[in-house]
Amino acid sequence: MTDLTPTLAFLRERLTERPRVLLALGSGLGGIAEELEDAVRVPFAEIPGFAPVTVAGHKGVLVAGQLAGVECVALQGRFHVYEGHDPAAVALPIRAVAALGARTLVATNAAGALNPRFRRGDLMILDDHINFMFRNPLIGPVADGETRFPDMSRPYDPELQALAEQVALENGIRVSRGVYLALTGPNYETPAEAAMFRRLGADAVGMSTVPEVLVARALGVRVLGISLITDLPTGTAAEPQSHDDVLALATQAAARFERLLRGVLEGIATRPDVELA
Ligand code: HPA
Repeated sequence: MTDLTPTLAFLRERLTERPRVLLALGSGLGGIAEELEDAVRVPFAEIPGFAPVTVAGHKGVLVAGQLAGVECVALQGRFHVYEGHDPAAVALPIRAVAALGARTLVATNAAGALNPRFRRGDLMILDDHINFMFRNPLIGPVADGETRFPDMSRPYDPELQALAEQVALENGIRVSRGVYLALTGPNYETPAEAAMFRRLGADAVGMSTVPEVLVARALGVRVLGISLITDLPTGTAAEPQSHDDVLALATQAAARFERLLRGVLEGIATRPDVELA
């Protein structure tokens, strides 16, 4: 198991405030980190224990500051299993920022649609997930503050889901709820795989988030998950899938996505029940 001591010693020196919320920002969705006030920016490359970032659309910067009055740490970029990291390395930033005090994780990602009602650019609030990575960051000795057999009957926090839906309604943002299925990637799924995942009960498919959510839940950290639907079900779109298209769509959707996140943080700031329950 990775020793967090050097990571925490470094971050405690660089960050002046105790974070409440950790924002894990997916492909092309890192822009909101630029809006943090009184921001401290630390490139991942400087942080002991953090791996280098290799994926386009992931800046690899940790930004600490306030958003809507809430002390946040935003991760502009994440580590993926398909880059060759083991799941514990993928989840290390979650363990570190939770150890600094964050009790809420907002995990975001770009995902492909499986639900035929979804359109490109839709936002999906995660209701549940299916771990089709068959990898797990919790394997091994039990880490500090974690439980051996974490309950997963409600991985995504109902109050945060309701808050996100309310913010979406107030802002005229189309959102739905659904099940996210995580693959290691890096290839996109075949049409036969997509059809199978749909039959298994998934609404969207992606290559991230689940390792981070598993660690957060093992620590008792509350989770809100949001997917930006960047792709139609494979085989149904006119063009083959490409990461460039994923990033282009994320850029188009950024304003809506940022409005939703800001509204959620305003809700967290003014409704302490969301933190306390
Ligand atoms: N499939 C898997 N992962 C993804 C997709 C997809 O269609 N879009 C963005 N990440």
